[in-house]
Amino acid sequence: MSSNKIRKAVFPVAGLGTRFLPATKANPKEMLTIVDKPLIQYAAEEAIAAGIEELIFVTSSSKRAIEDHFDKNFEMETELERKGKTKLLEMVRNVVPKGISCIYVRQAEALGLGHAVLCARSVVGNEPFAVILADDLIDGGDNPCMAQMVKTFEYNRCSVLGVEQVPEEETDKYGIVQSDEVTKGLGRVSSIIEKPKPEDAPTNLAVVGRYILTPRIFDLLETIPKGAGGEIQLTDAIARLLKEEQVLAYQFEGKRFDCGSKQGYLRATVEYALKHPDLSEEFREYLIKRCGENGSNIEPLFKRA
Ligand code: UTP
Repeated sequence: MSSNKIRKAVFPVAGLGTRFLPATKANPKEMLTIVDKPLIQYAAEEAIAAGIEELIFVTSSSKRAIEDHFDKNFEMETELERKGKTKLLEMVRNVVPKGISCIYVRQAEALGLGHAVLCARSVVGNEPFAVILADDLIDGGDNPCMAQMVKTFEYNRCSVLGVEQVPEEETDKYGIVQSDEVTKGLGRVSSIIEKPKPEDAPTNLAVVGRYILTPRIFDLLETIPKGAGGEIQLTDAIARLLKEEQVLAYQFEGKRFDCGSKQGYLRATVEYALKHPDLSEEFREYLIKRCGENGSNIEPLFKRA
C-alpha cells in the first residue's frame, strides 16, 4: 500500500434501481432528492467531510444526470450572477468545492457491486480507498459516518466495514458479519456472508453502504466467481480478504436510511425536512396538525373509492 491516507472514494452508481420504478426508469436512483439535495450529493459531502479529495463515480449509460450535477452549469451561473443572487450562485458553485476532483468510470453491464468496484481499479491504484453507496443515507450529525471510519482506519491501518444491527427478519437484504469484539462498537470480522436467510444468519450485524478497503480487494475481485443473484459480490471478495488481512466491523454513530427503498426514502424525507433550517418550523406545524392527537388523523386526505 503506497498511502495511509484515504484520498479517494468510489461511488458505485451503475445499478438499475428496480425497487424504485417507475421513478428510476429514466432518472438515476442516486439523483432522487431528499428535501433539496440529491442522494449522491449527500454522499459526496460525506466523503469530502472525511478529507477525501477524489470522487470516483462508477456510472452507466443511463446515469448522465449525475455527471451533469457535478459539472459546471455555465448558463445557470451567468443568470444567477446577472440577477445578483449571490447566495444561490455560491451554493451552485460549491456542489464541487475547490480542490475536489470528479472522475467517471463506466460499468458497461450491471454485473454486481463487486464488479462495479473493480471497474474503478485503474483510477484508485495501489492505495486504500472508501466505497460509499449513496442510497444508504447516513445522518451522523456533526460527525459524519465516513469521517468516523477514516479515523478507525488511520488507527488500525486495515479494511473497515460500516455495520449496524438490523431486524433479524431482514438479514437476507444485507451482507452479514460475525466478529470478535476489539472495543465497544468495533470488532474483528471472522466471517461474512451475503444475504443469508434469517434462519441461516450467524448474527444480525449488517454491512451497510460504507467501506474502507485495502487495494488487495481488487486482486480478489478479479478471481471470484459470480455469487448470490448471479452477480460479482463485494461480500465474497471481502470473505477472501479477511483470510489474508485483518478486517474490522465498525458500528458507526448515526441514523441510516435505506433510500433505495420507498419506505426508507419517505422516512429520510420527513427527518431531513424536520431539521432543515428554512423548513423545519412550518413543516413541523403541518405534521402536528395533519396527524392529530396521538396520530389519530393519519388517514389519506382523499381516498380512492
Ligand atoms: P443495489 O442492489 O442496492 O442497487 O446495489 P440497484 O441494483 O441499483 O437497486 P435495486 O435493488 O434494483 O432497486 C447497491 C449499490 O451498488 C450499485 C448500485 O448503484 C447501488 O448504489 N451497483 C449495483 C452498481 O454500481 N453496479 C451493479 O452492477 C450493481
